[in-house]
Amino acid sequence: MNRSPKTYRVKSFGCQMNVYDGERMAELLTSQGLEATDAEDADLVVLNTCHIREKAAEKVYSEVGRLRREDGTRPLVAVAGCVAQAEGAEIHRRTKDVDIVVGPQAYHRLPELVAKAAQGKRALDTDMPAASKFEVLPGRARQVRPSAFLTVQEGCDKFCTYCVVPYTRGAEVSRPWNAIVDEAKALVDAGAREITLLGQNVNAWEHDGRYLHDLIEALAAMPDLARIRYTTSHPNDMRDGLIAAHRDVDKLMPFLHLPVQSGSDRILKAMNRSHSTESYLRILDRARAVRPDIAISGDYIVGFPGETDEDFEATLDIVWKIGHAQAFSFKYSPRPGTPAATMPDQIAPDVMDERLKRLQALIVEQQTAFNKATVGTRTTALLERPGRHPGQLIGKSPWLQSIVVDEGAIGDLIEVDIAAAGPNSLTGVVTRKQAA
Ligand code: SAH
Ligand code: SF4
Ligand code: F3S
Repeated sequence: MNRSPKTYRVKSFGCQMNVYDGERMAELLTSQGLEATDAEDADLVVLNTCHIREKAAEKVYSEVGRLRREDGTRPLVAVAGCVAQAEGAEIHRRTKDVDIVVGPQAYHRLPELVAKAAQGKRALDTDMPAASKFEVLPGRARQVRPSAFLTVQEGCDKFCTYCVVPYTRGAEVSRPWNAIVDEAKALVDAGAREITLLGQNVNAWEHDGRYLHDLIEALAAMPDLARIRYTTSHPNDMRDGLIAAHRDVDKLMPFLHLPVQSGSDRILKAMNRSHSTESYLRILDRARAVRPDIAISGDYIVGFPGETDEDFEATLDIVWKIGHAQAFSFKYSPRPGTPAATMPDQIAPDVMDERLKRLQALIVEQQTAFNKATVGTRTTALLERPGRHPGQLIGKSPWLQSIVVDEGAIGDLIEVDIAAAGPNSLTGVVTRKQAA
């Protein structure tokens, strides 16, 4: 039986790097003559999965189950991403409804895997080949959204005791300078006005003695590129040059996503974070010294094994000290194979719930205050997508706030006066239709 697919759909879960990988998989399939579709009846469905927190694998199996059609048939199904890497052949053992399992470093081989699956054979590739997928992937799409992602660094050598990423993504690797600059040019030619440089530890990027700030400076020289961002950074890789770039490079947006995870040094140690609360706060001091309006974002885990009430109070305390523009917080989730999963003193779910609620209330309060402080000011917005009501558009401020306006077109970089603010978005009045 040959079931060569003609249409495909890629559904990505998890972090921005997965979104980027999903786009690259789509471009690869398109280059093979397949047609993208949002419809439920795609011939090939790629589930690009995330393994970071609980029940990731279970969610994939129920997602796979839902692909079965009323007449009993189903599309070709590929499980890609971090669950594919972590579970591997186990996925094929668990279900007959998955044809392809392909890891984050092997998806450039999708065409061969699809061809094999079309013959009715199961296909698995979770290699982490020395030759990078980037060397063989086709060029970027001819048209891209105004705000584009560009992965420059992959993998992680930090081995925080709770985290699966070093296992699912492999060791830290930086893409070469020229490959990145070429891809940035292609994205700008295809309509990108903003590029977000991505990496699991993006500020660890390094190539031939050049660092992330050198790359940012080079991209800033591209006339049609208006904005540059980068995420996620690790405190230990925060070089002076990158901080200085926040002063020297106008196109670099005043936003820093720098996770601290906990406000307790004892917990940071158990997490193997290799920075302290103090060293973290000093980084923010340096960043604010050169760029006083820089917005600080972060990630927090509550209920790490052994976390006492006192440790948790210390987390609230550091959040107070930092003053976030936004932040993400999660309940600790034991991940199979990580050291923290077998540590004593796992925290009870109701204690975690309570702590998460208190932390999130504080973060929402800070986020609202940050947004309210911008009311009455004039700023810019890059319009990225349609809003909820006809004629409305949603753009992003330099500080990554969503701004709702009622004129302009997607891709415009406009000037706005901020008229109102809520916890999650601002309302803007357009003062100039082209700010740059
Ligand atoms: N490389 C980045 C982000 C990694 S994953 C960094 O180190 O900052 C994104 C976030 O998920 C992490 O910052 C952490 O807050 C959270 N996370 C990772 N593993 C987790 C786990 N086992 N349980 C709960 N949250 C977790
Ligand atoms: Fe995970 Fe830590 Fe690496 Fe971030 S730095 S990806 S949290 S191991
Ligand atoms: Fe998830 Fe993998 Fe990203 S586990 S957060 S998709 S690196």
